Amino acid sequence: MVQLQMVVIDSDEASRKNVVKLIEEIGFVELIGDFDNMLTAYDVIMQARPPLVFFDLTENVDLALDTIEKIATIHKHIIIIVASENVDAELVIQSMRVGAREFLTKPVIKEDIHRALKKARNALKQDNESSDGKIISIFSNKGGIGKTTIATNFALQLSEITGEKVCLIDLNLQMGDVATFLDINPSFDIAYVITHLSRLDESFLHSSLERYRDKDLYILADPPDIEQAEEISVDDIASLLTFLKTMFGYIVIDTSSSFDVKTLTCLDISDFIFLVLMVNLPSIRNCQKCLSLFKRLEYDEDKIKLIVNRYIEDEEITLEDVEEALSHEVYWKIPNNYFSVMSSINKGIPVSEMDSSSEICKNFIKLTEKLTGVYSGRINDFEEKSGFLDNFDLSSFLNKVKNLDFPAFRKFLNQPEEHKEQ
Ligand SMILES: Nc1ncnc2c1ncn2[C@@H]1O[C@H](COP(=O)(O)OP(=O)(O)O)[C@@H](O)[C@H]1O
Ligand SMILES: [Mg+2]
Repeated sequence: MVQLQMVVIDSDEASRKNVVKLIEEIGFVELIGDFDNMLTAYDVIMQARPPLVFFDLTENVDLALDTIEKIATIHKHIIIIVASENVDAELVIQSMRVGAREFLTKPVIKEDIHRALKKARNALKQDNESSDGKIISIFSNKGGIGKTTIATNFALQLSEITGEKVCLIDLNLQMGDVATFLDINPSFDIAYVITHLSRLDESFLHSSLERYRDKDLYILADPPDIEQAEEISVDDIASLLTFLKTMFGYIVIDTSSSFDVKTLTCLDISDFIFLVLMVNLPSIRNCQKCLSLFKRLEYDEDKIKLIVNRYIEDEEITLEDVEEALSHEVYWKIPNNYFSVMSSINKGIPVSEMDSSSEICKNFIKLTEKLTGVYSGRINDFEEKSGFLDNFDLSSFLNKVKNLDFPAFRKFLNQPEEHKEQ
């Protein structure tokens, strides 16, 4: 279960202990500190930005209201619950006006604080779903399947089509390729950002990310040394991703091909996982293993999008076979286009920058349109229409019609061939 961090401030020790005990009973709150002193607590809140804060309003009321106002102005997402022995209407109104969301009577009882915390959790969930960026991880438990190709091209299309800011992270901490694929030489990398997590703010992060040309695409590359990669902890990755969600519309992660804890943490936090496979037996088997693990981890079916890469028409194994074997719908197929992809990688240019009319570039545009629901208008109508006819399967259409009750049509279908032509 996702744990929500919380800070408690109450100068009265007995009352503080009571609140702490009640909070610990609820199960989804992680207490990161309880303080009798508002000023120390304020520094911790500014640094850690916990989503929940409990504030006692019995003593030092003016200073408390000032502090609440400061916190609520700087960090709008923080939910502040206040409590006081004095339930005077004026104080309730004042506390709400400066930004508190709940007012409890002291001594605090279990029912009241648990109800307030559950309400806060729902509000945070809604905030999260509406305004925070979406994380999309590109994953496969085998290398060489096209993860980096997809991550780089898809991230670029996201930034072009949606107009949102996009962050592309290379989480192949020991041998990332993103910088090579995009031919960039980033000044900073993920290890640098993580060692400075305590001063994580928008301007610091902006100056540490490498902007891709003049696009709204920002890259966080892998560290140059393997030792540095090992120093990065699971918690660091989780904090970084949570922060990035507040800054970017989309975060695309090129993951490593293993089920280590860091990768699993990132898959866990992701809104979508592009699970990449090819249409061949070993790849389908590997994919089966991944799906079975995701099922055990209770991931939503909709979170996992099967992406078939290097797809060739008329292969022995069909997409229907793949879907049947995996009991999962294929979300997207990317054509096998060796020369375009290889040449784009060797030149360090995304496929769209090399040839925007290529089949593979249009494929990435359409994938982006499908996932985001944003229409780019970059593939013209004529192509869309001819695409529709290309996919039109006449024999299956006729079979469906045969089962309908159109006597004249049925008669036509049953006529000998030579009559139909007349
Ligand atoms: N759609 C595609 N068509 C043809 N070749 C591809 C395609 N996608 C990837 N490749 C090739 O597969 C190789 C591995 O791709 P890469 O993106 O580095 O995989 P991964 O990141 O999973 O190791 C590259 O040499 C690339 O040229
Ligand atoms: Mg790769």
